[in-house]
Amino acid sequence: AQDHRIARISSAIRVIPDFPKPGIMFQDITTLLLDPKAFKDTIDLFVERYKGKNISVVAGIEARGFIFGPPIALAIGAKFVPMRKPNKLPGAVISQEYALEYGTDKIEMHVGAVQAGERALVIDDLIATGGTLCAAINLLGRVFFFSLSEFGRISICFFFLFFFSFFSFSLLLVDVR
Ligand code: PRP
Repeated sequence: AQDHRIARISSAIRVIPDFPKPGIMFQDITTLLLDPKAFKDTIDLFVERYKGKNISVVAGIEARGFIFGPPIALAIGAKFVPMRKPNKLPGAVISQEYALEYGTDKIEMHVGAVQAGERALVIDDLIATGGTLCAAINLLGRVFFFSLSEFGRISICFFFLFFFSFFSFSLLLVDVR
């Protein structure tokens, strides 16, 4: 049976046709924020699902992941990590590019905010093409590489450089034969 809270949450989200472009049915969560019961139910649903699941990081995607992420993080006892649009974070960043309908976009996270081996929950207001969410997951997946020392990173790069040059050299030999 569907949770009775879902219907209230769903009706609290306003749908605005043709915003920001013709043909898009914009799901406006600002009206959900005006209804404290529906807003609390939304947070509670996530907390019930993810509490006690060994999650130490809630990663919120700009901009509306910054509204829903922090209360969930506090309630499950995790840290909150903002994933921002390019050139907004002041420290060293790891960034991930992703394809849009026309062109590309990027999201960024501070180096050191997440450690290798941590379990993360990614929060945003909605999924359309899924590009933003995939980029967030890829970004978190690359933390292992960034958590290595500079020596470790350079060693891995050399390893791949040698591996691929050896590989292409073998292909060349096969070709020549
Ligand atoms: C919206 C939404 C998601 C993303 C989903 O953000 O909040 O982050 O698009 O789209 P996708 O699944 O096709 O990637 P938007 O680009 O409007 O940026 P904003 O949150 O800064 O307004």
